[in-house]
Amino acid sequence: MRLHYSGVAGFLALATMAVGDSVDYSQYVNCLMGSEGPIPGKGYGGGDIFVGGTRPFGMVKAGIDTTAANWTLAVLNGGWTPDGNVTGVSMMHESGTGGEPKYGLISQMPLTSVALPVNILDNNTYSQPRLGNDTAEVGYFKTQLQNGVTIEISASRHAGIMDYSFPEGERHVLVDVSHFLPGSPGDYNGQFYIGGEIAIEDDGKAYSGYGTYVGGWNNGAPFTIYFYGEFSIASKSSRVFSGTNTDPMPRYHNLANGPIPEPVYGNTSHTITSGPMNRRVGALFSWGDGPAEKITSRLGISFISVEKARSYIDSEISSWNLTDTVDAAVREWNEDVFSKIHVPLDSSANMTNVRLLYSSLYFIHLMPSDRTGENPLWQSDEPYWDDFYTMWDISRCTTSLYLILQTSYFESMIRGLIDIWRHEGFLPDGRSGNWNGLVQGGSDADNVFADAYIKGLRGAINWTDGYAAMKTNAEVIPYNTYDPKDLSASTKEGRGALGDWLELGYVSQDRNTRCISRTVEYSLNDFALSQVAAGEMPGDQQKYLNRSAGWQRIWNPEVTSLNYTGFLAPRFSNGIFNNSGYDPLYCYSCEMQAYTYEAVPWEYSFVIPHDVETLIELMGGLETFESRLDKMFEPGVAVQDLGDNGAGITTLMNIGNEPDFATPYLYNYINKQAKSVEQSRTLANEYFKDAPYGIPGNSDAGAMNSWLVWQLLGMYPVATQPVYLLASPWFPDVNVTVNGSATVRITATGLEEGYYVQGVKINGQNWTKNWFEHNDVMAEGGTIEFTLGAEMTDWETGDVPPSPGHVVLNVDLT
Ligand SMILES: *[C@@H]1O[C@H](CO)[C@@H](O)[C@H](O)[C@H]1NC(C)=O
Ligand SMILES: *[C@@H]1O[C@H](CO)[C@@H](O)[C@H](O)[C@H]1NC(C)=O
Ligand SMILES: *[C@@H]1O[C@H](CO)[C@@H](O)[C@H](O)[C@H]1NC(C)=O
Ligand SMILES: *[C@@H]1O[C@H](CO)[C@@H](O)[C@H](O)[C@H]1NC(C)=O
Ligand SMILES: *[C@@H]1O[C@H](CO)[C@@H](O)[C@H](O)[C@H]1NC(C)=O
Ligand SMILES: *[C@@H]1O[C@H](CO)[C@@H](O)[C@H](O)[C@H]1NC(C)=O
Ligand SMILES: *[C@@H]1O[C@H](CO)[C@@H](O)[C@H](O)[C@H]1NC(C)=O
Ligand SMILES: *[C@@H]1O[C@H](CO)[C@@H](O)[C@H](O)[C@H]1NC(C)=O
Ligand SMILES: *[C@@H]1O[C@H](CO)[C@@H](O)[C@H](O)[C@H]1NC(C)=O
Ligand SMILES: *[C@@H]1O[C@H](CO)[C@@H](O)[C@H](O)[C@H]1NC(C)=O
Ligand SMILES: *[C@@H]1O[C@H](CO)[C@@H](O)[C@H](O)[C@H]1NC(C)=O
Ligand SMILES: *[C@@H]1O[C@H](CO)[C@@H](O)[C@H](O)[C@H]1NC(C)=O
Repeated sequence: MRLHYSGVAGFLALATMAVGDSVDYSQYVNCLMGSEGPIPGKGYGGGDIFVGGTRPFGMVKAGIDTTAANWTLAVLNGGWTPDGNVTGVSMMHESGTGGEPKYGLISQMPLTSVALPVNILDNNTYSQPRLGNDTAEVGYFKTQLQNGVTIEISASRHAGIMDYSFPEGERHVLVDVSHFLPGSPGDYNGQFYIGGEIAIEDDGKAYSGYGTYVGGWNNGAPFTIYFYGEFSIASKSSRVFSGTNTDPMPRYHNLANGPIPEPVYGNTSHTITSGPMNRRVGALFSWGDGPAEKITSRLGISFISVEKARSYIDSEISSWNLTDTVDAAVREWNEDVFSKIHVPLDSSANMTNVRLLYSSLYFIHLMPSDRTGENPLWQSDEPYWDDFYTMWDISRCTTSLYLILQTSYFESMIRGLIDIWRHEGFLPDGRSGNWNGLVQGGSDADNVFADAYIKGLRGAINWTDGYAAMKTNAEVIPYNTYDPKDLSASTKEGRGALGDWLELGYVSQDRNTRCISRTVEYSLNDFALSQVAAGEMPGDQQKYLNRSAGWQRIWNPEVTSLNYTGFLAPRFSNGIFNNSGYDPLYCYSCEMQAYTYEAVPWEYSFVIPHDVETLIELMGGLETFESRLDKMFEPGVAVQDLGDNGAGITTLMNIGNEPDFATPYLYNYINKQAKSVEQSRTLANEYFKDAPYGIPGNSDAGAMNSWLVWQLLGMYPVATQPVYLLASPWFPDVNVTVNGSATVRITATGLEEGYYVQGVKINGQNWTKNWFEHNDVMAEGGTIEFTLGAEMTDWETGDVPPSPGHVVLNVDLT
């Protein structure tokens, strides 16, 4: 089903859109870009994306959950997988995440038999292979089960609508409150169901209740979701059921080592509750034997109450016709997201590039989740947002895109983040299920805040509190959460290695994990503080600027690798560098306990965006810097196996993971912009495709996709600074709506000859620098005119991009 605006309803709705903008951009979205990895038909190594019905930043992401054929290669994070069997349709999902799954909650499962061997407490006995290929479109999903049931799904912001087209025969819908996306067996960070209640209402036409869930990737506290579900046709019979919980849950009651039990059906009562033994509960709705028939269900959820869950059905999905919700979803996506960027769509257009653009925009708007009005933890008039998964990923270039394209949503996010700090003491780095965690490196919300502040975002943000929240990260050591992933310090929030940072000015190898990557990130975090301090607390600015040079303290000028000398290196707390066997080409385990997290020191040695000037000096000057940067892009040089995060890439440069996002653009800092264009284009062409294996690894809540959007627009933001590096656009004409209603027009002539920049004009003026500032075009609009061609030209003669964090440190290297 492909939706075009041919219906009367569609045209009426479009009256509110900009005059002349009647384009249905959603048709250019490939909702399966990133659905597979390098092995066709498998999710492993792919984007881990959510596939289903949802709205921009919607709380409900309604889609199918599936089984894993092989847990070693399992990627259930988004619920949907290309090859898994369907276990249910659930309302909450993440998109693009790695690690242990979270959500997959509040489910229904259409069944055509519940007789033996089916045991409704055992998904292995009823899960369904799918026939043919699924249909995934903006706001719409369709799949066909082996049992003959066709499932169609759409969603509003807080509710889902499902059509179950049953073949002739028995018709049942299983509602298993204890359904969730599991982690691999034995994984401490797996998610679990720990209790709930369900009641049948309205003579078997509806049901209500709640479920409580715990754990998942961020080791979150229990949280409760209320639900209200209803069917278009009253069931003939409906029964609640319960069963012993046999999932091996740490710290919660269960029947240890018990086999999966048969359900016990309720007798007179229409309500069933888990009780202290965390029993599994659910309800089975049956319509008996009959001809083929479509049964529709509407299902609202809320973190507050059943009443609120129910109210969302009334206010958001008043029609029983799924098409109405699909139309509304498409309209919202077009208005709020896709129509912010116009490119030519006529016969001259390269439709592959058009699809790359709108698909990427789609995936950066699935997370975080706007939960305003849905905060169960405290009363507040501030907005509430969840599913920051994580700042480590999205602070690099995703939130910079929100700032220009979704200015009011972004303002709301920052207010929500500050309110989390007010009530919980720390800003999150990751947050999901109303729980801060995990921290992978630094406190990267600092970078997001600085980026917003320095670009002038004010609105209703209380920046006094915003800065105070950042200062908590910079000054307060978070209590240790004794996470088995890393017992040494908090993984929940803040900067776990802050003790070293305050005392030594770097993170030491002997007292802390991830000594190199945390030093690198804390440096930028403190630079971020200095940026906001400049306006909010000028007395602090120099202090944090000084601290932002901490990375220089772990620069060991004696380490040599591949004929280059001087690298970030592990240093003990006594000041002595650890030279025994250190090789910056390796990160060994590369995770929480390693020197560097998910990238090797070679890569992290380039991640100093606030002081590239000093970096160039330490690397040995312009020529060595350039040749060393070239080395990053040489095939066959990488020796570290980064597993899932490596995407089979053999260069040190790994576009499949966030730390290297800015690296291809660093040539701008030596006025060799043509090389930035060459390297970034090559990466984009090689690793980003309008195809299932369309992104090099996890989408990471859209971070990967946002890298591509900037590339397509021909620029890259230096987050924490009001600076954009110029690259080369992929379209001859682009209008971007920024800051609510202003327009940046980006034009390019000569694209047919080549993509190297020959010259640039900004706002009509000849531009000699390979960068520009936010206020040049992003605040009130403006124009950027590129002249492109086949030749790599040293067109830029102006100043190189700034290094506002430039600090000369007399490093004591004894
Ligand atoms: C299937 O059910 C079993 C038993 O409750 C559970 O351990 C497992 O995690 C479930 N699998 C999926 C994919 O939901
Ligand atoms: C799906 O179910 C089919 C048939 O029951 C089974 O052969 C297959 O292994 C299952 N696949 C997965 C991924 O669970
Ligand atoms: C699961 O995948 C891993 C990695 O490819 C493989 O070694 C293992 O044999 C597979 N297990 C099964 C049961 O197929
Ligand atoms: C399903 O999709 C794959 C690749 O995306 C394609 O090769 C195949 O032909 C499709 N199958 C059907 C039945 O359409
Ligand atoms: C229903 O009644 C039967 C027979 O009295 C009993 O064995 C069963 O435990 C009851 N079920 C529930 C859920 O109370
Ligand atoms: C649902 O609405 C669509 C479009 O308005 C219409 O074509 C279709 O017939 C409707 N379906 C039902 C079952 O009423
Ligand atoms: C961009 O806006 C200008 C001025 O309104 C218009 O002439 C041009 O056609 C637009 N380009 C695109 C691709 O929409
Ligand atoms: C469209 O652009 C892609 C790069 O994304 C390129 O590979 C392809 O050749 C272009 N197609 C045409 C028809 O120019
Ligand atoms: C910011 O919040 C603080 C307390 O949290 C309050 O004292 C101050 O007045 C607020 N500032 C503004 C401008 O609202
Ligand atoms: C910053 O560092 C400089 C040079 O070491 C020093 O003179 C100055 O006092 C420091 N400023 C603050 C506020 O720490
Ligand atoms: C290092 O330089 C030497 C001398 O120029 C050369 O022989 C060697 O191949 C180089 N090694 C690497 C890894 O580039
Ligand atoms: C801009 O550059 C072009 C080409 O070098 C030159 O012809 C033109 O005079 C310049 N315009 C301005 C306003 O400097």
